[in-house]
Order: sequence, then structure tokens, then C-alpha cells
Amino acid sequence: MPDLHKSISPLIGVTGAPGNIGTPLVRALLRRGARVRVLARHPETARQAFADAPPSQIEFGTMEFGKRQTYLDAFDGLDKLFVLRPPAVSQVSRDMFPALDVALGAGVRHFVLLSLQGADKLTITPHAHLEKHLGGNGAVYTFLRPSFFMQNLTTTHLPELKKGIIAVPAGNGRTSFVDTGDVAEAAAIVLTEDGHENRAYGLTGPAALTYREVAEIFTRVTGHLYRSTDPSPIAFYRLMRGQGAGRAETLVMEAIYATARLGLAKHVSDDLPTLLGRPAHSIEDFARSLPGLD
Ligand SMILES: NC(=O)c1ccc[n+]([C@@H]2O[C@H](COP(=O)([O-])OP(=O)(O)OC[C@H]3O[C@@H](n4cnc5c(N)ncnc54)[C@H](OP(=O)(O)O)[C@@H]3O)[C@@H](O)[C@H]2O)c1
Repeated sequence: MPDLHKSISPLIGVTGAPGNIGTPLVRALLRRGARVRVLARHPETARQAFADAPPSQIEFGTMEFGKRQTYLDAFDGLDKLFVLRPPAVSQVSRDMFPALDVALGAGVRHFVLLSLQGADKLTITPHAHLEKHLGGNGAVYTFLRPSFFMQNLTTTHLPELKKGIIAVPAGNGRTSFVDTGDVAEAAAIVLTEDGHENRAYGLTGPAALTYREVAEIFTRVTGHLYRSTDPSPIAFYRLMRGQGAGRAETLVMEAIYATARLGLAKHVSDDLPTLLGRPAHSIEDFARSLPGLD
């Protein structure tokens, strides 16, 4: 008897896995019964990350943006593609457009892009360039525009956070922090359900908060003292470089926190709870998962 599930379930390509969004996205797609091809620079690493996945639902391919020889067979047979711009890739017209064009030629009919809050206005960002390219290539697109990930505080800023300090130069600017798990789940919904064709969604958490308010919530929820120090941009630069962050990466962070400082990261949208059919996770929810302090 033919495997009916396999014959009707579309094959979804996922870039950016494993990663902050890619890992929970692949898991959410598998839970939904989708068939997934993880397209990674190092497929063996990806294979290990998803070693517990049902073999009938997952396959692995090599694909590296910027290396055209890896595009040849990567997209064959895919119906949909989740596109994540790796943080280190800034020249998307050189390093990503050719791959997306090959994917289109190979038959991908729906591109779901992990974009950026306000990308429609921030026209100089790589995400805006990607939106323009995918919006004009004749295929169906969906743009997901998340705000600042809550999880940046427990990844990029973990060394300070472990001392009870949130040290980012965002002043009193508010940020509508979003949970990466929620973003991934929204992406899985968009990739597996109809009705999201040629749409853009702003994905934010339920509240826009200052970092001082975040520290107060962390303190209240965990019972440990947290404080936000609001370093000057120069002090922040020195701090991040001292922790081993690259120059370009640090300058991007400076730009992101300047955006928050200027009040451009505070927009709260209903799109995420509408997509999820439940409230988006709050900073209070996130605080309950914080690692212990030193
Ligand atoms: N952080 C935020 O607050 C935030 C908010 C909104 C939007 N975003 C956007 O989200 C994206 C980052 O998502 P993330 O945090 O999930 O990323 P991430 O955890 O840093 O993961 C990046 C993934 O991309 C892969 N990768 C790196 N270079 C590659 C290349 N040349 N070709 C193919 N794959 C490559 C990495 O593989 P390796 O393991 O091989 O390196 C990894 O799997 C960025 O576009 C960022 O602008 C972030």
C-alpha cells in the first residue's frame, strides 16, 4: 500500500537549523507531521541535533549561502522554503539571491522569510532587500517580522546576566520582546496551513518594556536581584569586544539598541497571538526559565 502521508505532505526546506529559530521550527514542523529537509552548512551536525526525529519525516542536505556549488541539488523536490538570513551574511544580493533564484527554478512555490520588525521601513537592512527580492520573483511569499528575541538575554548577554546585570545601551526605550519558540511555532503554522500567502506578519510579545522593567520582572519572578546598567555605547562596545564579540557583530548590536533607545522597537502587534490561537509568551514566562545566578 502506498504511503499516503508521504505522497500528499509537501516537502519543506529549512535553512538556519540548528539555530535559535531553526531548531524549534524543525521540531514544530515535525510535531505537525510535516516532511522537512534541513539545509545546513554541516549536515552531520544537523543530523546529530535532530537524531531523535522520525526518519520518514526528515532528511538533510548541504547548502551554504555564498557557495554556489552547494545550491545544485539542495532545493530539488521542495515545495516550500523557510529562509533565514544568517547573522554573518550582510551582502544578501551576492550571497543569498542566487540561492533563492535556484530554489525558485527548482520548483519552490512558497518562500517564508524570517525578516525583521519594521523591515518595510528599514529599507537599508538585508531583510528589506530580501523582502523586495522575494516579493518580486513571482512565487508566493510570507514575511515574518519578529521584534527583539527574549533569548538574546540568555545567549549573547548571558555572561552579564549571570551576574544579575542587563548591560545594553537602550536607555529608557521600550522593546516588544518576543519568544523564539513562539516565532518558530508561527513559522511552522505559516508553512503548513493555507491562508498566509503574500502576507507580512509583525511578531511581537504582548508588552513593550524598558530594560529596567525587565530587570524588575526578573527580580520579582526569580527572587534574585537583577538590575539594568544602561552603559554608554562606547562602554558597551568595550564590554562586548572584551567578551569576544566581533567588531561587525558589536556594531550591529549598537545599531539595534540605538533603534530601541529611539523608541522604534516598541510596537506591539496582535499578529502572533492571532496566528498561534493563544497569547504570546511574556517576559514573565521567560523569567521562569532563567538559569541561576553565579
Ligand atoms: N536576535 C534577534 O533579536 C532577532 C530579531 C529579529 C530578527 N532576527 C533575525 O534572525 C536571524 C537570525 O536567526 P537565529 O538567531 O535563529 O540565527 P542563529 O541561531 O545564529 O543560526 C544561524 C544559522 O544559520 C547557519 N548559517 C550560518 N552561515 C550560513 C551560510 N553562509 N549559509 C547557510 N547557513 C548558514 C548557521 O549554521 P552554522 O551552525 O554552520 O553556523 C545556523 O544554523 C537574522 O537574520 C536576524 O537578523 C533576529
